[in-house]
Amino acid sequence: MPSLTAVTIRPARRLAGRLRVPGDKSISHRYALLAALAEGRSHLAGYAPGADCRSTLDCLRRLGVEINEDTAAHTVVVLGRGLGQLGSPAAPLDCGNSGTTMRLLAGVLAGHAFSSRLEGDRSLSGRPMRRVIAPLERMGARIDSIDGHAPLVIHGVHGERLRAIAYTADAPSAQIKSAVLLAGLHADGVTSVAEAAQTRDHTERALEAFGAAIAHRSPGVSTVSVEGGQRLAGRTLSIPGDFSSAAYWMVGAAAMPGSRVEISDVGLNPTRTALVGVLERFGARVRVEVTGTDAGEPRGTVIVEGDRTGALAITPAEVAALIDELPAIAALAARGGEIAVHGAAELRVKESDRIATLVAGFRALGFSAEERPDGFTIRGPAGAGGVADAQGDHRMAMAFAIAALAATGPSTIEGADAVGISYPDFFDTLDRLIA
Ligand code: S3P
Repeated sequence: MPSLTAVTIRPARRLAGRLRVPGDKSISHRYALLAALAEGRSHLAGYAPGADCRSTLDCLRRLGVEINEDTAAHTVVVLGRGLGQLGSPAAPLDCGNSGTTMRLLAGVLAGHAFSSRLEGDRSLSGRPMRRVIAPLERMGARIDSIDGHAPLVIHGVHGERLRAIAYTADAPSAQIKSAVLLAGLHADGVTSVAEAAQTRDHTERALEAFGAAIAHRSPGVSTVSVEGGQRLAGRTLSIPGDFSSAAYWMVGAAAMPGSRVEISDVGLNPTRTALVGVLERFGARVRVEVTGTDAGEPRGTVIVEGDRTGALAITPAEVAALIDELPAIAALAARGGEIAVHGAAELRVKESDRIATLVAGFRALGFSAEERPDGFTIRGPAGAGGVADAQGDHRMAMAFAIAALAATGPSTIEGADAVGISYPDFFDTLDRLIA
């Protein structure tokens, strides 16, 4: 996404207020995809409002799925076509900026007896796709790419089902796991995925919510398996707020002593909430209360109060559970302290090279920042402020905005419109919390 919009951030003393965050992006993608493969109607409440989850709906429409939306109410109604029954698309499927759309759809389309072309924007076209191409080809699909990058042309199997496989992913990635499990639904036999580090398990919980049986095996290497050919049934589901969006307010409150934010109805799936322990280590007071569980996904309230600032090191073993929160975590240094992240080379292949973008942006805001091949160190406090470029990356724009609150002068975030990918109202909410 080009840097269209710049936003000015003025210094603020603290964050205070109660809020909700937009619907969970990861869960929204999965519910939309499974609803399309299910029989009957699904009603999804709290669907994520950002451009990424819109890309998934647009692709599904091109695959013949009837979808009705009330965008103001964030509800989506999907008329499922049944397993393996998507229609051959007349035009390419545009995944926009969304890696989850492209990788998960690749898994679904591998099991369909037609060819389809998945395209993305400049950022997505630079991201690695061999990680899904390799297992899907082992299952019998053929996938053309440009040297392992999009556009991808998926040639699904004709006249037979995919082959079930036992797969060990080479990188801890929920998207790889999910692509293989979704293909596994369309395979003959039992497909399993083993992962050395636990990644978010929304696909597993969503499959069960739509009526599929899943088997888990642990401890040691955790393995999940699914038998192909299971029929899914349309469901009425409610999507909780996105913990990864809440992370910016949680970090902002923790970084600025005297702050207090209370976020209600946010997803509390334990594979997503490692940030809570990180904030406690940093010195914040955090309270988490689970108020309910929908379709296996716990949700509730998180309260964060900033108390003191400290030093923090994130180890390689922690990275998989914090992958989307690492940019926010950097902003913990806003009022002082040192934040070091190790073993996170995966950040280089996200929506931007998040290590390079982050270090350049924090330096521009007046922090001392150091770049390593697999991580970074940020030393606060913020300086005089400056111009930080989000490089079209939503999580960079939000991390810079939080960090810039602690600068002594105003700052400019270039490319701030990228927040539309996951959190269109981010800057309105920020205005309210600093008022
Ligand atoms: C996601 C998985 C993660 C995460 C991304 C969303 C998902 O990506 O960074 O924002 O919904 O499965 P990887 O699977 O590449 O780690």
